[in-house]
Amino acid sequence: MLIKQADDIKSSEITPERVYFSRRNFIRAGLLAGSTLATGALYQGFLAPIPEVNYQDPNVIARGTASEAGEALTPYSDITSYNNYYEFTTGKYGVARRARNFVTRPWTVTVDGLVNKPKTYDLDELLGLTAQEERIYRLRCVEGWSMVIPWTGLPLSAVLKEVEPHGDAAYVAFQTIEAPKQMPGWNSSGLDLPYVEGLRLDEAMHPLTLLASGLYGQPLPAQNGAPLRLVVPWKYGFKSIKSIVKITLTDRQPPTTWNIAAPREYGFYSNVNPNVAHPRWSQAKERRIGEFLRRDTLLFNGYADQVAGLYDNMNLRKNF
Ligand code: MTE
Repeated sequence: MLIKQADDIKSSEITPERVYFSRRNFIRAGLLAGSTLATGALYQGFLAPIPEVNYQDPNVIARGTASEAGEALTPYSDITSYNNYYEFTTGKYGVARRARNFVTRPWTVTVDGLVNKPKTYDLDELLGLTAQEERIYRLRCVEGWSMVIPWTGLPLSAVLKEVEPHGDAAYVAFQTIEAPKQMPGWNSSGLDLPYVEGLRLDEAMHPLTLLASGLYGQPLPAQNGAPLRLVVPWKYGFKSIKSIVKITLTDRQPPTTWNIAAPREYGFYSNVNPNVAHPRWSQAKERRIGEFLRRDTLLFNGYADQVAGLYDNMNLRKNF
């Protein structure tokens, strides 16, 4: 990956201050920006089931899974200003500005392939399939940095169950929107676009796997993958494909963008694994954005007790 190493982040760029927009201000700002006309009501509807959370309350981290206990949330400002989204630019600090006018409504997501009930969902219908949940997950990037993010979204399994997968469906393929006119880095990304990703069906059905539509209780910013992105907390961040328009069930392992770009460096599984080094650097340590000292990387990003069973009898060195 054309990646700035965590070491390159100037300490002045790691903002310790916690930025907390009140929900009302956010909605007002969104309306003023006028980029998502008439979405005030939609946002209200989207936000309604999510309980108010005071992120400045240290007890809030207790809302995450046990593995997050004691870990501070990464500030909103860092999560939304340091991004990988090659369709906009390969520079992490430039994505937010270049994605400012990205249009995320109306938006449809087609779910098709080996299913009984293929369907093209309007985004808001899809989000309404089940109650939105808030989940605090780590995001561990292959470049060596990590964040702790309060996501909101719905379990991917809820969508897959709706379309009734066939017995021979074994994988799920995902595709990002193809919108070169809106994505200024499209022709200079160095990637074969549109961006694609894949999961095995049992990984996709796992209760930890989330289709995220928000963070910090607010609609997902464009730079983070609005209006809908994947979050698979035990895998490296590049698995979390952004701005999804298509989800296809298949009987074959689907191609993935980074595996196509550099097959020796990025495998299909992409499980966070401190014991298997990336060919150009170790994965044993990570830098939590906002912290000075590196910490040990945990196997499966700390979710081993919940997901290790998916890989019993698999050689995780070969299947990296
Ligand atoms: N999805 C698309 N469509 N394009 C991308 O370039 N980058 C991936 C992933 N999803 C990427 C993408 C990578 S390399 C990472 S680390 C995460 O998004 C970063 O997500 P974040 O910007 O919310 O931290």
